[in-house]
Amino acid sequence: MKTPLVAPSILSADFSNLQSDVEMLNQSEADYIHIDIMDGVFVPNISFGLPVCDAIYRHAQKPLDVHLMIVKPEQYLSAFRDAGAANISVHYEACTHLHRTLQEIKALDCRAGVAINPHTNVQLLEDCIGDIDLVCMMSVNPGFGGQNFIENTYKKVRQLKEIIAENEASTLIEIDGGVNAQNAPKLMGAGADILVAGSFVFKSVDPQATIKELKAIC
Ligand code: DX5
Ligand code: ZN
Repeated sequence: MKTPLVAPSILSADFSNLQSDVEMLNQSEADYIHIDIMDGVFVPNISFGLPVCDAIYRHAQKPLDVHLMIVKPEQYLSAFRDAGAANISVHYEACTHLHRTLQEIKALDCRAGVAINPHTNVQLLEDCIGDIDLVCMMSVNPGFGGQNFIENTYKKVRQLKEIIAENEASTLIEIDGGVNAQNAPKLMGAGADILVAGSFVFKSVDPQATIKELKAIC
C-alpha cells in the first residue's frame, strides 16, 4: 500500500489565529492545505471566500487544494486561481457543463477536480474520467466538519478505482469527510490516494503528530 497524501482541512482551524495554523501546517508533513468554500446555497453553511483564501496563500508553503461547494463555480475559477489555488474541485451536482468547466480549470494551469456527493454514483464520471485530475469523493454530506464517515464510501472507492484503470486514466482519489486513523487504512486499501482530515487533525492534542500518524498509514 502506498503512503497517503494528506490534506488537512483549514475549516477546522482556529479562524482567529489562521496564520499560526497555516505556519503549523507548513512545518508538518501535510502535502496540501484543503480549503472549503461554502456559499450557503449549494450547501447549508457559509464558510469563507476569496479574501481569506488569498490570505492563507500568502503564508502557505504547501499547495492549496480548493473545494468549491458553491453554485455556478465556473464564474469563480480564475479568481480562485489568483487567490492561490493549485487544485480546484467543482461539484458534479453544480455543473451543467462539467466537461467545459474541467477544460477551463486546466487552461488556468490548475489541477481539475470533481467532487461528488455521497448519493452520486461514480459511474457518472466515466465519460470524462480522462479529463479529471482528482475526484474529491465526499464521505459525509458536504457543509460541515466533524460529521461521521459514511461506510458506503469504501465500495465507491473500489468502483472508481476500476473505472480509472479501465480507462487508463491517472485520476487521483481524494476522500473528504470523517477521515481518521481507523478508516484511513481501509480507504488506502480500497484505492484512495489523498486523505482530507479536518477535525481529526485540528481537534487533536498534537496536530503535527496526527498528520504524521496519517502519513504512516500504509
Ligand atoms: C465538508 C468539507 C470537509 C470537512 C472535513 O463539507 O468538505 O473538507 O472540512 O472535515 P472533517 O474531517 O472534520 O469531516
Ligand atoms: Zn472539503
